Amino acid sequence: MFQTIPFNTPDILFGMDVVSKVGDYAKKLGAGRILLITGPHVSKAGIAEKVISSLKAKSLEFEIYDRMEQEPYTTVVERAAEVAREGKFLVFIGLGGGSVMDVAKMASALTTNPGVTKDYFGVEKVARRGKPTIMIPTTAGTGAEITKHAIFVDVEDHVKKAVASQALQPNVALIDPMLTITSPPQVTAAAGIDAFIHAAEPFVSQGANPLTDAIAINAMSMITRWVGPAYADGRDLEARYYVAMGSMMSSFVLQNSGTSLIHAIAYPIGGEYHTSHGTTLSALMPSCFEYIKVAKTPKFAEMAEAMGENIYGLSEREAADKAIEAIRALLKNLDLPGSLKDLGAVQEESRVKRWAIDAHKEQRLLSRCARQLTVEDIIKIINNAF
Ligand SMILES: [Fe+2]
Repeated sequence: MFQTIPFNTPDILFGMDVVSKVGDYAKKLGAGRILLITGPHVSKAGIAEKVISSLKAKSLEFEIYDRMEQEPYTTVVERAAEVAREGKFLVFIGLGGGSVMDVAKMASALTTNPGVTKDYFGVEKVARRGKPTIMIPTTAGTGAEITKHAIFVDVEDHVKKAVASQALQPNVALIDPMLTITSPPQVTAAAGIDAFIHAAEPFVSQGANPLTDAIAINAMSMITRWVGPAYADGRDLEARYYVAMGSMMSSFVLQNSGTSLIHAIAYPIGGEYHTSHGTTLSALMPSCFEYIKVAKTPKFAEMAEAMGENIYGLSEREAADKAIEAIRALLKNLDLPGSLKDLGAVQEESRVKRWAIDAHKEQRLLSRCARQLTVEDIIKIINNAF
C-alpha cells in the first residue's frame, strides 16, 4: 500500500535546436577527447554536422565512430569498445536511434568495467559507471537516451538480451524534435508505438505507481493525438514536437516502472524474424492487453479516456474494451501490424512453444505482469496474437 518509489532521469534538455548545446554539455562533463558514436545514415542526413559544429565552436577534440550494422549484435559493441578503450576518451556521445545509443552506453561502460558485453546481460551486473555520456536521439520512441537499459543480439544464439544496470543511465539527454524530421514514416510509426507501449505497458503492470501513472496518462494522450500527423507528414513540426515530448515522458515511465509482457514476448519473435522492435510490439499488443485486462479493468478504462475515447455512461468493463478498440484503430491508421499474421510470422506449434519458453525466461519483465504467467499461458497469448 505504501510504495517506495525510485525516480531516476539523466540531466535533460528538451526543445527545438537544443543539439546546438552539445558542446557546452560536453565541456561541463570534462571533455577532453570525445568519441562521437553514430550511424552512417545520421552522417548522411547532415545531423552529425550539427553536433560537430557545436563541438568545434567549443574547440573540443573528437573522433567519429560509425561502424554500425543493421542489427545491434554484441560484436558491434565489442568493436566500438575496443576503439573506446584504446582512445582514452573522456566523454561519449551517442547520436542516432536506440541501437546506436545502446552501443554508446555500453562502449562507455566497458572502458571502466572488464570483460565483454555478454558478461553483463541481466540485472545490475555493471558495477561502475563508464565515462560520462550524452545521448542525442534522432527518432522519437526508443527511450534509450533516458533509460538504464541496452539491448543487443547475442551473436552466439541470435537472441535479443538486455543489460539493465543503473550505471548505464546516460548523464545527459539532449532531445531535439528537429532531428526527427528526417525519420521516414514507417520508422516514425514504429518508434511512436514503442513510445506508446513504454507508457501503456507499465501503466497496467504491477510496477506502476502514482508518479509514473500521472506521466503515463499524459504520454499516452499526447502520442495518440500526434503520432498520426507525424506519420502522415514528417515536416509537421508541431506533431514532431509533441511526439518527441510524449516519447520523453513515456521513457520516464519505462525507466522507473518498467515494461513487461509485450516486450518479453517481442524479444524472441523479433530476434527470429529481424522485424523492428516497434512493429513486433504492435503485433503483440492487442492480444497481450486482452489477456491482462481482467486484472486491470479500471486502468484500461483510464487508458481509453487518455486516448480520447468517449467513455461517458459506459461501465468500467465497456470502457476498458474501448481502450483495446482504440489501440487496434491506432495501429491500423499507422499501417502497423495488429497481429502476428500481419507481421508475417508463421504459426507453428514448435515455434510458438520455443518463443513462449524464451519469453518466460524474461522474469525481469514478467515479474511485473499483472497476471501470473506459465509457459502455457504465454502459448495461448501468442496463438491469440495470430
Ligand atoms: Fe520498447
